Amino acid sequence: MNRFLSSPWTKVAVFLLSLVPLGVLLWLGYQASASDDPTQYVTANPVEYITHYTGDWTIRFICFTLCITPLRMLLNRPQITRFRRMLGLFAFFYGCLHFTVWVVLDPRQNTISAIWEDIVKRRYITVGMLALLAMLPLAITSTAGWVRRLGFKRWKQLHRLIYLTAIAAVIHYWWLVKSDIRLPLMYAAIVTVLLGYRLIVWMRERRRKTAVRTSQPTVSAN
Ligand code: HEM
Repeated sequence: MNRFLSSPWTKVAVFLLSLVPLGVLLWLGYQASASDDPTQYVTANPVEYITHYTGDWTIRFICFTLCITPLRMLLNRPQITRFRRMLGLFAFFYGCLHFTVWVVLDPRQNTISAIWEDIVKRRYITVGMLALLAMLPLAITSTAGWVRRLGFKRWKQLHRLIYLTAIAAVIHYWWLVKSDIRLPLMYAAIVTVLLGYRLIVWMRERRRKTAVRTSQPTVSAN
């Protein structure tokens, strides 16, 4: 298992697997453009279809990224951490694609002011923007050089922004659905478990540190 997780080929496999949703989308687009009946590939509303498709993959990759730390702890396999950066960058990549589709393909977003108006007016768009923008500093500082420049402690604090992204992404999904809340509810449950796990670990660690501190004998000045 350790050899499998440490192998460079496993990383290549995860990279290629992460590209599959993009490949499927391109394939659907190609089939639709070559077909007499494109609706069977991208429905009668392709812009909506692609927006939903890319949104779904963004929230999935956010969840995959958040799974890494609990998996590492529960399975006691530090090598799993190798995949976190890649999965986080794919979450950002699909998020950018989702945003680009909305800006470029949605005919309502034809001017900068129309885009801005939508961001400010529609609360699910506002919170979607927050989720995406919170990932920007994480993507920029994802390199080893930035870890060195910021120092590991500050870098780690900054990367807690992924929690904000995850919560904002769930709210975005919840607010945009009209009636059937089953899927947003499922993501809310997943994110609650993944963040709740961290909270429990953090509280236990804090209690342990306090116990160690209070059990240490106080050193007298003389
Ligand atoms: C991390 C950031 C984001 C995540 C995780 C995300 C996720 C999602 C998800 C899961 C859906 C629903 C897919 C479905 O119903 O199958 C969705 C729909 C949508 N998202 Fe996002 N999104 C994000 C950011 C944004 C941003 C920045 C915008 C635009 C500024 C945006 C605009 C939309 C629109 C217009 C829809 C379709 C709404 C509808 O059909 O009524 N999203 N998004």
